[in-house]
Amino acid sequence: MLRIIKKQKKLKVKIMSQNSYIAVEPSPALQGTVELVGAKNAVLVIIASLLLTKGKSRLTNVPASDDVLQMIKLMQSLGAEIFFYPNEHLLEVDTSQVTKWQVSADIMKKMRASILVMGPLLARFGKADIAAPGGCVIGTRPIDYHLKNFKKMGALIEESADYLTARADLLHAQRIVLEYPSVGATENVLMAATLTHGVTTIVNAAIEPEVLDLIMVLRKMGAKITVEAPATISIEGVISLQPIEHAIIPDRLEAGALLLAAAITGGSIYLPQAQAYSMDVFLLKLEEMGHEIIVGPQGIGITLKAIKEPRAVSFKTAPYPGFPTDLQAPMMAALCLAQGTSIVEETVFENRLLHVRELQKMGAQIKVEHNKAFITGVDKLYGASVIATDIRASCALVLAGMAAEGSTVMTGIHHWTRGYDGLENKLMALGAHVTVYAGQDDAAVVFAQPDTLNIAPAPRN
Ligand code: UD1
Repeated sequence: MLRIIKKQKKLKVKIMSQNSYIAVEPSPALQGTVELVGAKNAVLVIIASLLLTKGKSRLTNVPASDDVLQMIKLMQSLGAEIFFYPNEHLLEVDTSQVTKWQVSADIMKKMRASILVMGPLLARFGKADIAAPGGCVIGTRPIDYHLKNFKKMGALIEESADYLTARADLLHAQRIVLEYPSVGATENVLMAATLTHGVTTIVNAAIEPEVLDLIMVLRKMGAKITVEAPATISIEGVISLQPIEHAIIPDRLEAGALLLAAAITGGSIYLPQAQAYSMDVFLLKLEEMGHEIIVGPQGIGITLKAIKEPRAVSFKTAPYPGFPTDLQAPMMAALCLAQGTSIVEETVFENRLLHVRELQKMGAQIKVEHNKAFITGVDKLYGASVIATDIRASCALVLAGMAAEGSTVMTGIHHWTRGYDGLENKLMALGAHVTVYAGQDDAAVVFAQPDTLNIAPAPRN
């Protein structure tokens, strides 16, 4: 007889400090094929959704970005056992021993997406004690839609300056109407409703591809969910949900960044896994700029061949399937070098034009009026010292640096590593000159990780 022993070893993954920076040098026309990792915005909520189950789930295509590491730390703090294999993009989460429903302020403040454990905790324990996630530079980002609708479902919520205490002996199924299709509020209510007796309906729900990936996961767990036009999600509560295996959808925002990297350097790129059908308006705007876009069968796989003298285009950001707010800043970097004047209107977040000031330092001609940016294309951008203010702004500045004359040094790269898993390596493999310099005081996150399985003889009785 043989016995299988799992040796435990520790794995360290670094989280970037504020002292790190990225140096970007003028880059040639990028060329090549790139594999995409899973979507950060899907995996964060899907990890949270595992709290609805008791047992071991397996997620593949998981990016090792810092926000994912923070979500893993949050889950560990609740009692989940986690095995993470960043190089294989494999995450195993065992929620059998989750016994806590309290999330401390230091974990909660690290990332807004931590609010996404509130629905699962309420559904599993009828309790959730969490610190308020706080505002952020791109806007105040309140959580009133989350709280209002949990209250409507029967939760009693006490709010102090910095802390929320939610209690619900029994949540009630309700018809929830969202005044705005908030991604997070849709996901939170959806997850809570899966274990709530009766049929909950969410009207004017967010239907982003990441929300649909969550729905696919919840269905695999055994949840009964239907999605109907116009943007209505119905959830019939079940008694319990089972652990799952799931491959996270490819990241459309990483795909967007890579397509723009090829566009801004005048190159060509092929993304075999990119789901073109989830990026229609963005691809339309790239075509209007003059770039050639070729989409593979069934909308999977995108090739971009850049035009040498791209044209200005205008757009406004909107909930899916509109132009994604998360691609607004990267797209603006490309428009800085397009011929003519582009008008970009940010409608999703009230303060998401902070990258304009940094692009201006590089020679971009941009005027801002309220939530609109008027970008007049210039012949050249120039390298400068710039500061990334949020995840997508960091992407915009790296893109601009690749097409600029001279060196660009970008600080604030903890935003870059929060949102992207080794995107700099993918850009370098395509020919870009992008180097990450890690600061001395980068924090290490430690995970238990089983070694290769050892097979040993069973003890003789
Ligand atoms: C998610 C994404 C983020 C993306 C955004 C919009 C994740 C982890 N993050 O963020 O990358 O930019 O969707 O596509 O998936 N609002 C309220 N009250 C609320 C909730 C939201 O007023 O209770 C407002 C927000 O301030 C914002 C707008 O609604 O102006 C959209 O926010 P929301 O869709 O909720 O974004 P997130 O889920 O936070």
